Amino acid sequence: IFQRFVVALAKLLGTLLCCCIFFIVSHLSVRFVVSAELWQLNRTWVFQGHGASLQPQTMLLDEGHERLYVGAKNTLFSLSLDRVNTHHQEIQWASTEYQIEECLMKGREKPECANYIKVLQQYNQTHLLVCGTGAFNPICALVRVGHTGQDRLFALEEDSITSGRGRCPYDPNSPCMSTLSRGELYIGLYTDYWENDGALCRLNNQTYTRTERDDRQQLNEPKFVGSAVIPDNDDRDDDKVYFFFTEREMDAEGVNKAVYTRVGRVCANDQGGQRMLVNRWSSFLKTRLICSVAGPNGIDTHFDELEDVFVLKNKDGKNPEIFGLFSTTSAVFKGYAVCVYHMDDIRAAFNGPFAYRERPEHHWTPYEDRVPYPRPGSCASKVNGGGFSSSKEFPDEVLRFVRSHPVMYRPVLPHHRRPVLLQTESGKRRLTQIAVDRVQAQDGHYHVLYIGTDDSVVLKVITIYNKDTDTMEEVLLEELQVFKVSAPIREIIISPKRQQLYVGSEVGVAQVRLHQCDLYGSECADCCLARDPYCAWDGLTCSRYYPAGVYTKSRRFRRQDVRHGNAVQLCNGLQIDGWYEESEERLVYGVESNSTLLECVPRSLQAKVLWFLQKEGEKHEVSCDERVIMTSHGLLFLRVRSSDAGVYVCQTVEHGYVNTLLRITLHVLRGERVESAIHTTNDEEGEKAGAPCHSSSAVPGRHSRLWYKEFLQLIGYGDAQRVEEYCERVWCTDKKRKKTKRRYVSPGGEKRGKGRGEENSNRAPRHTLDT
Ligand SMILES: *[C@@H]1O[C@H](CO)[C@@H](O)[C@H](O)[C@H]1NC(C)=O
Ligand SMILES: *[C@@H]1O[C@H](CO)[C@@H](O)[C@H](O)[C@H]1NC(C)=O
Ligand SMILES: *[C@@H]1O[C@H](CO)[C@@H](O)[C@H](O)[C@H]1NC(C)=O
Ligand SMILES: *[C@@H]1O[C@H](CO)[C@@H](O)[C@H](O)[C@H]1NC(C)=O
Repeated sequence: IFQRFVVALAKLLGTLLCCCIFFIVSHLSVRFVVSAELWQLNRTWVFQGHGASLQPQTMLLDEGHERLYVGAKNTLFSLSLDRVNTHHQEIQWASTEYQIEECLMKGREKPECANYIKVLQQYNQTHLLVCGTGAFNPICALVRVGHTGQDRLFALEEDSITSGRGRCPYDPNSPCMSTLSRGELYIGLYTDYWENDGALCRLNNQTYTRTERDDRQQLNEPKFVGSAVIPDNDDRDDDKVYFFFTEREMDAEGVNKAVYTRVGRVCANDQGGQRMLVNRWSSFLKTRLICSVAGPNGIDTHFDELEDVFVLKNKDGKNPEIFGLFSTTSAVFKGYAVCVYHMDDIRAAFNGPFAYRERPEHHWTPYEDRVPYPRPGSCASKVNGGGFSSSKEFPDEVLRFVRSHPVMYRPVLPHHRRPVLLQTESGKRRLTQIAVDRVQAQDGHYHVLYIGTDDSVVLKVITIYNKDTDTMEEVLLEELQVFKVSAPIREIIISPKRQQLYVGSEVGVAQVRLHQCDLYGSECADCCLARDPYCAWDGLTCSRYYPAGVYTKSRRFRRQDVRHGNAVQLCNGLQIDGWYEESEERLVYGVESNSTLLECVPRSLQAKVLWFLQKEGEKHEVSCDERVIMTSHGLLFLRVRSSDAGVYVCQTVEHGYVNTLLRITLHVLRGERVESAIHTTNDEEGEKAGAPCHSSSAVPGRHSRLWYKEFLQLIGYGDAQRVEEYCERVWCTDKKRKKTKRRYVSPGGEKRGKGRGEENSNRAPRHTLDT
């Protein structure tokens, strides 16, 4: 017991240590676009149904008919892909009074006793397959879609309504995932009312093939997350269906232990066995998907709970990249990670040794005895010799083996053996969904990750692997607040063709353009430093980047450097050529002893701000002290003096690129000495020589919080709520920063530098006020 205790303690400490390390490693810089802004820019459109909460359960993109189908509570919607909020159609498909009554009699709550549409698949060119929970009595039907002449068809085929048992869960909250391929529905779900029977199934109008009932070796309390049909080669009989889910791993005592993420697979043409495994998979195998970070002392932190999976298809369809969004199962801290898996590695694990243990209380070892022929888990196909025309002809020995050895010994490790993205700050928002776009930039392909959160935000991130240092850099390009109300993002679908994102949450369905290049500013450096692979500077503006050959008539040269954001190299020549506007000039009057803010907010996210004072032909960096404070809005003089008068230059530095944003001439007017309570709280400002901004000597008195707020109010942040918010942000992030020491909040307030800790420590603008 003591030993276990020590191990548990070590793990806990490891986890905590890891947290601290992540704080240093995973820097994100943020461009926050609030929903109002998205609306103003016409970058988003939101469909909200009839005002009542929409509760979309599942969405389906139909590029052929240019529609987005949304399965919701009691309703199926068909939305326009151009504008989700115009020309929608809907089918009401509620449960009957009788069904609802029955449901209530089973002891269910009223909100559960509705028809939640959970399965939505393109059945064929003209029909959708739609299944709903039907007030705990699942039902399925076909829905006609398409056109006849001018009319858009969208109608439920009444005579197609059938029982949805085995095709749709009973409970609206039950996890379920499905894929339809060649007329066959592959689905992972709980098939029964009591949710005891989790199964991976295939249905067509003749057969029903599934995992074994009550076989904890095959599935143990599964949570179904995703599935995909992925061909191995050109022989379609060799196509495999992959299922992504989590389950519990049983320990020696048969007591449920850890949660593991699994990838399971079957042959698409699996017909089951003839004498045994009748209507059961004869090819089901599974292995573990690992997403972990090496910690100190060799204790890894594992992200075992799969939240969402995205299969990024490639050209031939055989080698998609699999993106998993994981969280920790630890009660101590909630972290998130994204890992990428390659099919080569997944196939290698399934081609590797089977796992074997003599008894449940033993450790898993590789199975080393003779493996029967054909290899268990392989398909009846020409590629495999063509000796068997169907799995029904497989020898019993093969079926028996696959039944008793469903687990592979080797797990699948992520590409680069590490996550591409980490969020480990506890108390931060939860991550719920992921979708990925492959974008061609000038310096290569990038994966743009769209990650949904529990507070209506979609994060747009790229990750860059550095071969030389074997490190991963995350660049958060945008934070898009898609809905005004805070709600968890339930679904994200990308249409690369339309360059749109379709996002579902219980409050609605939003459409968001993937990029808005002009937001980054109109200068080469701004555009370049944004590092958005969708965008490049074309000599005049920051605009959509198209790889050469796509628009050949555009002769404009393009400047883009996603990997390094090296604006010095790309844009310096331009500056000499006079492409740049003169930096803005401003005149500001301050009243002696009153506060004055020299406002300067950099457009670029990752920039650090430097202030210089030009006086009598000399230029000095402004030094900060108790009286002169660098804020995210600019340089704040708490009590301006006549000697402060002069020309102030606000410059940004990013990746070594210096840009002058503003020249502010400050005039100081002689005024009455201000008598106020403020004064008394902090009177010993003295004539100390100004310390450099990044030194920590600038710590005003205890009442400075109040004080600061009053000053903000004085200088025109008259809106009390905004001041409150602003202060909250300044003070809280400041406190947090102190705790995590090396993290850095750049003058943008919520922005964070993306460099490593060492670089950050010498970034100048930093004020360490304390509450
Ligand atoms: C947004 O669209 C409206 C009308 O649809 C138009 O008047 C407005 O100028 C557009 N705004 C932008 C920023 O394009
Ligand atoms: C799609 O399936 C339905 C139902 O089986 C059938 O009536 C319809 O003709 C099919 N459409 C096409 C284009 O095959
Ligand atoms: C369904 O069954 C009918 C008759 O058995 C058959 O003609 C039809 O092709 C089947 N449809 C599919 C999609 O398998
Ligand atoms: C200077 O401060 C005093 C009190 O703090 C205030 O009443 C006055 O309006 C301020 N003057 C200006 C010009 O801001």
